[in-house]
Amino acid sequence: MTETKISSPKRILIDTDPGIDDSAAILLALASPELQVEGLSIVHGNCSVDQGVRNALAVLELAQATEIAVARGCELPLVQPSLLAPETHGQTGLGYAQLPPPRTKPLAQHACDFLIDRILSAPGEITIVAIGPLTNLALALRKEPRLAAAIKELFIMGGAIRHEGNTTPLAEFNTYVDPHATHIVFHSGIPTTLVPLDVTYQCILTEAHLQELEKIPSPIPAFLRQATRFYMEFHDRYQAIRGCVINDPLALALTFQPDLCDYETLYVDVDISGGVCMGKTFADFYRISGKPANLRVALGVRAEAFLDLFVQRIAALSQKLLSKEVK
Ligand code: RIB
Ligand code: CA
Repeated sequence: MTETKISSPKRILIDTDPGIDDSAAILLALASPELQVEGLSIVHGNCSVDQGVRNALAVLELAQATEIAVARGCELPLVQPSLLAPETHGQTGLGYAQLPPPRTKPLAQHACDFLIDRILSAPGEITIVAIGPLTNLALALRKEPRLAAAIKELFIMGGAIRHEGNTTPLAEFNTYVDPHATHIVFHSGIPTTLVPLDVTYQCILTEAHLQELEKIPSPIPAFLRQATRFYMEFHDRYQAIRGCVINDPLALALTFQPDLCDYETLYVDVDISGGVCMGKTFADFYRISGKPANLRVALGVRAEAFLDLFVQRIAALSQKLLSKEVK
């Protein structure tokens, strides 16, 4: 692997509902020297927020990265009733994977306060990668109006622009679970890149990728095998996809390899009217509304290059941890 020259790593906070693909994104972040993970804020979504905290702590222990702070956030959407996704991520949120119960604990601080404190302590320096429902970020923005201007940039995995929904026929899970939070964040003025299903559904992790990783006798490929086995069964049963869509790792990868995607800067909004389009995200391609563009939207992706990057980075992390364990 060619060593990429890094001036200084990009400081990121990951707001996440771990979650099988969230866990893969966390591992990719830990495997990427271009990034410095400042912490994880946990939100309801794929599983309950408490299960998500346990999963985040356990994945960080798996990756020997227990120095990274984990903060427990919101357990319910702002307005909508709770919607979790056990059919997609399993009862524990990590599919068939069975990680030891974590020995570490989350911060006592609520995730909203954690986000506010960390961001305001380094205005303009920290990037947020939001890969779950946007409840934590929306609430933090309402609690601290100075927050939006202090966030360097925001990457959101969520929404479906020209692509069909994966939770309703029209809406993607993260924006559907908390459409009101999505609305707040979309109109916050934060420099934002949206990474919708239009690009993530081209990024399918397959059996061949897993077999490549399993050449390394490390607990990380073994974890990904068991976590994605459940996820692949879901994709096969409900969407006739051979493999599994790794949505969140793509959003994470764009923080340091933006050229993996092509973008358009557009006016984008989310339906909160409560009807059949609830949580549906849409873009004003013909600029009919006359409203100013608010998001940069990833609409094309070099999927093969991304998947190669993902496998290469996870392999390197697995190898590195293996040699650490051997010592
Ligand atoms: O629709 C996919 C998104 O919803 C991903 O972030 C997945 O982890 C779930 O949170
Ligand atoms: Ca997620």
